[in-house]
Amino acid sequence: MRILLYLGKGGVGKTTTAAATALRCAQMGYRTLVVSTDIAHSLADSLDMPLNSEPTEVTSNLFAQEINVLDEVRKNWGAMQGYMGKILRKQGMSKTVAEEMAIIPGMEEIFSLLHIYRNAARREFDRVIVDAAPTGESMRLLAMPESFQWYVERFLGWGETAMRLTGGLLRRLMPEQDALAGLPKLVDDVKALQEVLSDPQTTSYRVVINPEKMVIKEGARAVTYLSLFGCPVDAVLVNRILPGVRVRGDGGGAADGETGQGGAAVFAPSQDPYLRQLQEHQARYMVEIERDFYPLPILYSSWRSEEVVGFAPLRSLADELYGHRDPGEVMFVGQAQEIEEQGNDFILKLPLPHIELDKIRLTKRGDELFISIGNFKREYLLPAVLAQRDASGAVFAGGILRIRFPCSSQ
Ligand SMILES: Nc1ncnc2c1ncn2[C@@H]1O[C@H](COP(=O)(O)OP(=O)(O)OP(=O)(O)O)[C@@H](O)[C@H]1O
Ligand SMILES: [Mg+2]
Repeated sequence: MRILLYLGKGGVGKTTTAAATALRCAQMGYRTLVVSTDIAHSLADSLDMPLNSEPTEVTSNLFAQEINVLDEVRKNWGAMQGYMGKILRKQGMSKTVAEEMAIIPGMEEIFSLLHIYRNAARREFDRVIVDAAPTGESMRLLAMPESFQWYVERFLGWGETAMRLTGGLLRRLMPEQDALAGLPKLVDDVKALQEVLSDPQTTSYRVVINPEKMVIKEGARAVTYLSLFGCPVDAVLVNRILPGVRVRGDGGGAADGETGQGGAAVFAPSQDPYLRQLQEHQARYMVEIERDFYPLPILYSSWRSEEVVGFAPLRSLADELYGHRDPGEVMFVGQAQEIEEQGNDFILKLPLPHIELDKIRLTKRGDELFISIGNFKREYLLPAVLAQRDASGAVFAGGILRIRFPCSSQ
């Protein structure tokens, strides 16, 4: 089974690209499931088909499903939440606060993914395309096989303490305790899911972006955290590229009749000054995208004059994104970036495109690191663990920039 997760900032085209990818996989003969966890039911709108929480066959080989996140949380966690909520309330917490406290951050996504995986395995799908929006919390939970267990034990620990404090009175008051019998199995299932979701042969994460500043930043941050937590990212999809904007800013500057500077180029400038300015902005961002997401492969799709709704427009979008490629192939093997521990220091390892060796300059502002080597410039968003430290020097060799972040207490 191949599991492909499409994620990115709101509105960039996750649902659309996931649906287009699923259609292409089905067309290639793979038994495919496309799933959304979005309560807004946008997958049904995108495919232009009614869907529900069970897989519905929408065309030959393609099944689609919109799962209800709240149902999944209730099913998996309801008993635990009720139990913990009661304990916390007995200790004087208000009902709303107590129920909020009994929720593990990110668990909606975990339970949704668990449901998707169990279902897909049982029904023997070859390809599962997930229209996902994992938050930082769910990525954290996914990354560490022990973390879910840690939370569960902590909750149980609170319960035990409360029991001791009340001399066992609570035990008699709360028959829900029996409902916790399923917890060890849930912990095991989450662990198995974590293994599947970090195996690059099975799972690939794809970050969808648009050529816009904030969207690129959020996409870059997602790649950083996914890499940090060992989630295999294998491609970046740039959607909504205006017509006339060159997609590959491979240096050389603008050719005759083109506008732009450096590698950024608009090969068919619009007559409309407003549109032309937008084209130029996008062209500049296209160059940044190639630098900031290197060495990940980048796939491109244009801004359509109409919404991409229904099979025909989705198929045409998939043609543009994948060409003759199989969307299910593993598009990149290895890590786009890595943090290595050396004693108390951290070394950030960033592969960079071919550049002339020159003086390396690093400037850090908050969680942003500006790297410049000769003419080459790259902005890098530091994960929290590195943002707290200062960069003390960098070496570029063998295509990899190694930046040292010494332990701040030294
Ligand atoms: N390349 C494109 N050209 C024109 N319209 C597009 C393109 N890609 C997506 N759209 C349209 O933009 C809207 C948002 O796309 P989509 O729902 O796929 O984004 P999303 O990332 O899933 O959003 P959300 O975060 O709200 O789930 C939809 O109406 C879709 O039809
Ligand atoms: Mg969506």
